[in-house]
Amino acid sequence: MQVRPCVDVDEMRAALAPIWHYFGQNLPSEDAIKHFLRVLPHECVHAGFDGEKIVAGAGAFPFDLVIPGGQVKAAGVTVTGVFPTHRRRGYLRGLQRSLIDDARSRGEPVAVLWATEDTIYGQFGYGMASMSGEIDVPRDRTAPFASAASPGEARLVPLEEAEPLVAPVYERVARITPGMFARSPEWWQDRVLNDMEWKRRGGGHLQCAVLEIGGKPAAYALYRMNAFFERGVQTGNIFVVEAMGDTPQAMSAIWRYLLDIDWLARVKAHLLPLDHPLLLSLADPRRLNFLVREGLWIRLIDVGAALSARGYATDDAIVVDVTDGFCPWNAGRWRISRGGAKRTVDEADLACDVASLGCVYLGGFTFAQLARSLRMTELRAGAIARADAMFRSDRAPWCPEIF
Ligand SMILES: CC(C)(COP(=O)(O)OP(=O)(O)OC[C@H]1O[C@@H](n2cnc3c(N)ncnc32)[C@H](O)[C@@H]1OP(=O)(O)O)[C@@H](O)C(=O)NCCC(=O)NCCS
Repeated sequence: MQVRPCVDVDEMRAALAPIWHYFGQNLPSEDAIKHFLRVLPHECVHAGFDGEKIVAGAGAFPFDLVIPGGQVKAAGVTVTGVFPTHRRRGYLRGLQRSLIDDARSRGEPVAVLWATEDTIYGQFGYGMASMSGEIDVPRDRTAPFASAASPGEARLVPLEEAEPLVAPVYERVARITPGMFARSPEWWQDRVLNDMEWKRRGGGHLQCAVLEIGGKPAAYALYRMNAFFERGVQTGNIFVVEAMGDTPQAMSAIWRYLLDIDWLARVKAHLLPLDHPLLLSLADPRRLNFLVREGLWIRLIDVGAALSARGYATDDAIVVDVTDGFCPWNAGRWRISRGGAKRTVDEADLACDVASLGCVYLGGFTFAQLARSLRMTELRAGAIARADAMFRSDRAPWCPEIF
């Protein structure tokens, strides 16, 4: 079995075919390839071969990922698929090997992904790093906890004109939100604001509302009006693809805009952060039907560089003894402090597998939670509390889109 980066666009097209197969399609269309190529160069897609034939593929977007106190270069793993004819022969393992080694040689200390199934990636050292919430709320149960006048005006903007208005808002939110990543103009145009037919899944066109405060964009919402009827009564929903504001007032106002849209019966959204303000700003939070499932998975490819890129909330230092079967260069003791993560011969305070470091990396889980799940060993009394004080982050990690 050979696994290697694609050498041209034809190979890339063939390497995308396995994941397309699972979405019920054959080869990706010319249009899909054109949009992909603007954000994913062909050499970032790796192909698995059976003889001459490509039977497996996976890619990695080059991301700048926001982490507590900083940013890190990250491989955004995507489009992983192995044809059913070749499953369980080690192609995924080969693809992960190839992607991780490639990311390491490019100086990307972490890999990040959304998993189709939660059983797949732990064995390669990925840890569940964030959780995401989904809501489905009847619109007539969305009264505010305390009403407030909107500080601004919302207006509908054609998608072609949206980027200069919404991108700066996203950037301001991303700057302080672990789990978000920088979006290039191509990412906005070819992915976020590109309302391709397949994304609608029978629903409405993508709408963009921009909320301006003092004449400047402070919040936006991308959403679809999905109208359905039963005996003349509207049973449809407003599906919120993405909504954010750069202050609590702007965030509250854009959500009020969405919740107050007339006629449709429900408001639905997914990929929300666990600390979403709606949970505390509605009179009837139970009616949100807030459902939680896992979000991003993170793999520290280079433990030293990954942990050095992160900020820490205290001046302390801890020594962690790391095990890592898939990337053995990470194994051993690391002293972590505001001065960076360095190899040490000091005695360890904590011991864990590299996947557990992925769980705490964005601040989405704590060392104490891992210890209670038997995934973190405290070797020196008090070390878990000290590590949690260091790794504390003010915000729940949030990645608002599946890539
Ligand atoms: C998931 C998928 C990529 C696995 O590919 P594969 O080539 O069969 O995987 P491998 O043979 O390399 O398996 C590697 C290991 O992962 C395990 N594994 C593979 N798929 C798994 C799954 N869905 N759940 C749990 N474990 C899985 C294998 O058992 C194997 O473990 P082992 O080494 O201990 O025996 C493939 O089944 C697929 O394309 N699925 C549909 C699309 C999809 O879910 N893609 C992932 C996108 S995030």
